[in-house]
Amino acid sequence: MSSNEPLAWEDEQTDLAVEGLVPSRIPSTHPLHQPRSLTARERERYRRMAQRSREQSRRAAAGELDSLHEVNVPTLDTRDLMPRLEPSGLRALSLYSGGGGLDVAFERAGLEHVASYEILDHAASTLARNRPEWEVHGGADGDVHGVQWRDWRGKVDVLHGGPPCQPFSNAGRQQGHLDPRDCWPATVKAIRAIQPVAFVAENVPALASTKFAQYVREVITEPLERSRPRYYVHRVVLEARSFGVPQVRKRVVFIGFRSKKAYDAFCAPAPTHAWNNPESDLPPTMGVREALGLPQVDEYPDGLAPTVRSGLTGPRYTTSICNSTSAAKSWATLGLWPNGVAATREAASAFPTDSGAFRLSVADVALIQGFPPTWIWPTAVYQAVGQIGNAVPPPLGWAVAKSVTEALALA
Ligand SMILES: C[S@@+](CC[C@H](N)C(=O)[O-])C[C@H]1O[C@@H](n2cnc3c(N)ncnc32)[C@H](O)[C@@H]1O
Repeated sequence: MSSNEPLAWEDEQTDLAVEGLVPSRIPSTHPLHQPRSLTARERERYRRMAQRSREQSRRAAAGELDSLHEVNVPTLDTRDLMPRLEPSGLRALSLYSGGGGLDVAFERAGLEHVASYEILDHAASTLARNRPEWEVHGGADGDVHGVQWRDWRGKVDVLHGGPPCQPFSNAGRQQGHLDPRDCWPATVKAIRAIQPVAFVAENVPALASTKFAQYVREVITEPLERSRPRYYVHRVVLEARSFGVPQVRKRVVFIGFRSKKAYDAFCAPAPTHAWNNPESDLPPTMGVREALGLPQVDEYPDGLAPTVRSGLTGPRYTTSICNSTSAAKSWATLGLWPNGVAATREAASAFPTDSGAFRLSVADVALIQGFPPTWIWPTAVYQAVGQIGNAVPPPLGWAVAKSVTEALALA
């Protein structure tokens, strides 16, 4: 059977809802993950997809497949979206550093990096590999719950971080403070102990929804407004596309200042780029195909990539960056394949997809998230794409860091 031939299940129209659900026999790789309920037929379908993918992967490695596409040469250089700024003299401490999205953003905005704290060893190793001179606390040593934050008082000007978003994300169960991964109380504790002149804390936009309004008030803003010294807190919602990143990605950012003058001087980052707006004077945000250096063809009209998803807290190790049917449709419309991300552009080119869509590589996913092309991903592919999917797009983080620096300079 050729790999492009449809499988029997693809033609079946059986109503799966009337079939019984069967539990997964494969244990989840994440302790807090609750497996999806699937029917026996759905499980069989996924099993056969995985089997076919493994066989294709083996044939690609053996050089048995014809390459469908040349190795792509990107058009977008993300460094142009976040030019290196002069050192400001401000010292930055990073919590929940992941693979370094915010860290590299603040570095390019001219802040001196003093240390990173990250619980995942593999993410910490990405930071250490890229910046051997940085102080990186990883694993148990990087767990924010076990740090004597007072020791950092007087040594840090800006604290930044993105506490885990799973407790609030639309893609999860949105249990807020009932989710043991909720790290906002630990973040507030760190800010109160260190007393930086400013802090930046990022999260999913759902945290700005009415569902979590009381949570935000009681856990984040009020404790900081009542602390000594008190913090004055802005909240802004930003879109990656407004900073030249070819992806649909919205984030809420809390920005707090110890001085009222700096709070008043702060201006939310203005867009640097415009997506699909010929009226705008700003440079256009590239479509994702153009950014990746792929041909513009009628079959696949260019557009923004859907939100890149991290599979790190999912049920098993995955090299997919897509976790919904609607996103899968958007990726398909763009002619891009969001599953089975390859380690390198060369490996992606040697491993054609069944559908003829372009197979992404780790470097491509990093570009779609706005990382500089020089940032290295030294870990397994599933870890690398998981770290990338968790990250703040550096050009967006850079714009925030620049606004904070400007406000502090005026105060
Ligand atoms: C949303 S990601 C942050 C991404 C990062 N800001 C970036 O731009 O690349 C959250 C990170 O928090 C880490 N994390 C979760 N619990 C933690 C804890 N208790 N202490 C330190 N890091 C933790 C996760 O491993 C994950 O890498």
